[in-house]
Amino acid sequence: MTPQAVNLVPFVSVDHMMKIVTEIGVEEVLAHLCDYLEEDFKRWELFDKTPRVASHSVSGVIELMPTSDGDVYGFKYVNGHPQNTTVGLQTVTAFGMLSDVTTGYPLMLSEMTILTALRTAATSVLAAKYLAPTGSKTMAMIGNGSQSEFQALAFKKILGITSLRLYDIDDNAARKCAANLAGRGFDIVICDSKEKAVEGAEIITTVTADKQLATILTDNMVGAGVHINAIGGDCPGKTELHKDILMRSDIFVEYTPQTRIEGEIQQLAHDHPVVELWQVIKGDIPGRRGSQQLTIFDSVGFAIEDFSALRYLRDQLDRTGHFENLDMLADPDDPRDLFGMVMRSVQTFA
Ligand SMILES: NC(=O)c1ccc[n+]([C@@H]2O[C@H](COP(=O)([O-])OP(=O)(O)OC[C@H]3O[C@@H](n4cnc5c(N)ncnc54)[C@H](O)[C@@H]3O)[C@@H](O)[C@H]2O)c1
Repeated sequence: MTPQAVNLVPFVSVDHMMKIVTEIGVEEVLAHLCDYLEEDFKRWELFDKTPRVASHSVSGVIELMPTSDGDVYGFKYVNGHPQNTTVGLQTVTAFGMLSDVTTGYPLMLSEMTILTALRTAATSVLAAKYLAPTGSKTMAMIGNGSQSEFQALAFKKILGITSLRLYDIDDNAARKCAANLAGRGFDIVICDSKEKAVEGAEIITTVTADKQLATILTDNMVGAGVHINAIGGDCPGKTELHKDILMRSDIFVEYTPQTRIEGEIQQLAHDHPVVELWQVIKGDIPGRRGSQQLTIFDSVGFAIEDFSALRYLRDQLDRTGHFENLDMLADPDDPRDLFGMVMRSVQTFA
């Protein structure tokens, strides 16, 4: 018997996601995601919030990230394995789901490796909209792996960044990033040191992958007035900024209890003052207050951002048709006769 529609769960595969992104346009998707994120940051208080559930190992971490706005529940499964690229695997892969809170029935299942890169870039630029110096044109990007092009395009589309200064310890990554962004409206310089990369940059994005307390930026590299978009320090024992930079900055975070465990601020005292981004977006606390202020978005990635991204994706399904229905939920004629349904199928196939 064909299951009723409610038991068929729309599934967005990697192939579907690539079609959606290329059909709508990557920059358009980033702009729409930024709008969806901004809406959800404005209603931040009504969401369920918990630090993500992380299972650490010597090689990386596997995390579950749940939240709910009371009507819809969402979660993401994501990993972080910095050594994966040496064996031809990605550092970060992900998938996620939305469900109906009233029935608990899934509403959509999706790949989220591509969607995570898009939502991370959209979140970064949303923060920068409130925190970066007005009229910023130049961004240094240290770490030129999977996330990097998405970051660059989001900053161009929403903030008007047209000059990029790239640095990666692996020249191939920097060349790959420059080649992927060629013809997309950037003036790109590949630098041979991180010190050169940050020269003249109003925004510094650190998006490296290394499972250690790394020091990608030292205090002397960062002048007054700069905005730092710190993406890669997102696990206990995994950071990118020297503590001295943190001590002279205004630090903005997603969800403080999670960032205290995972973010750059794991290097600071547990009561070191930070501001949650939603408070700035709602207008409760000012973002950038002047041209000399050093601001840091200490990004670790929070469940509500994935929820916003999945919410946006779900709104694109009927329009694009890029999904397939999965026969994922059992559908017995009598909802209490699951056993009978299984046995009747044996008779049908016998
Ligand atoms: N904050 C968030 O929401 C969020 C979301 C996704 C990924 N991340 C993090 O962002 C980081 C990058 O992710 P990715 O998918 O692009 O990884 P990736 O492995 O594809 O790329 C990382 C790049 O960093 C470079 N790198 C490593 N150490 C470096 C150093 N000391 N100096 C300069 N470059 C260096 C590597 O050579 C590589 O090219 C990871 O740490 C990941 O966990 C954070």
